[in-house]
Amino acid sequence: MKNIILTGDRPSGKLHIGHYVGSLKRRVELQNSGKFDKIYIMIADAQALTDNFNNPEKVRANITEVALDYMACGIDPAKSTIFVQSHIAELTELTFYYMNLVTLSRLQRNPTVKAEIKQKNFEMSLPMGFLTYPVSQAADITAFGANTVPVGEDQLPMIEQAREIVRSFNGLYGETLIEPKAVLPESKSCLRLPGTDGMAKMSKSLGNCIYLSDSADEIKRKVMGMYTDPNHIKVTDPGDTEHNPTFIYLDAFSTDEHFKKYLPEYANLAELKAHYERGGLGDMKVKRLLNEVMQETLAPIRARREELAKDIPAVWEMLKKGSFEAREVAAEMLSKVKKAMKIDYFNE
Ligand code: TRP
Repeated sequence: MKNIILTGDRPSGKLHIGHYVGSLKRRVELQNSGKFDKIYIMIADAQALTDNFNNPEKVRANITEVALDYMACGIDPAKSTIFVQSHIAELTELTFYYMNLVTLSRLQRNPTVKAEIKQKNFEMSLPMGFLTYPVSQAADITAFGANTVPVGEDQLPMIEQAREIVRSFNGLYGETLIEPKAVLPESKSCLRLPGTDGMAKMSKSLGNCIYLSDSADEIKRKVMGMYTDPNHIKVTDPGDTEHNPTFIYLDAFSTDEHFKKYLPEYANLAELKAHYERGGLGDMKVKRLLNEVMQETLAPIRARREELAKDIPAVWEMLKKGSFEAREVAAEMLSKVKKAMKIDYFNE
């Protein structure tokens, strides 16, 4: 069996450090591991339209932003095929056939969709396109024969639903589709990075994100203004590190090397945490360290991004090439699917 990756993001905003530790970093490692026969990275514009159908301009503008974020992080178009979802008409056709294999109540039980419906105030009038996006996501994955889907934790219900569709399809029409598995980040702190304000999730609408494209000044301002432990009032008070976003970010980003360089009086993060928990360590010192760590991590990404952003037509050209290539692969899978369903009438 071939090892194939498919994953992607909705182009509804620039990507932030939550995307970076939650999935981008892993994708680059997998890309460079040499263990995969093919890697497809999809900019899910059609999915982004399911909740931005009234704002296609926003989706359009963010296609290049996401492509720049990808390449700035190390996704290399020479090794990974980056493409735009809406160019692949075969995906909608697959979605239509897969719809027969999913019930309304199953879709309504999908926890990620459920949370999003609430968050977007779709409870009173729910667009069908939005409710059914997990089915189209199953099409995205299966069209490329992907067995590996590196994603953040919030995407697990989508992968589970895709697996059910695959089993159901193969059971009815014979072994055709590959059952995918999700690959999550290795460390727990990377699973879901909280916002700079301490809210559970980074989100554009909450204004609590640090973007991969943020300037050095913006990063500093955001880090220095971060929410910490509200009960850690005096420096001498014992502090909580577990729910404290500054420590969660350090968990996700700092290395022992950073301590040697920026805060040599501590050997590592464990020592710093112990001091904070005992009391006697001020938030400012933690934030100054975190600022150094974030600056060091993001500076090379930002520099590459600025360089790539000088030639936007080249970005579109790369996407066009990737999309044509991806379409051929999806078309092949669609023929297999139609053959399995015995609806390939004119090929006999
Ligand atoms: N749902 C993903 C997001 O919100 C984007 C996406 C669409 C995706 N299709 C996919 C991810 C297939 C992995 C596999 O960003």
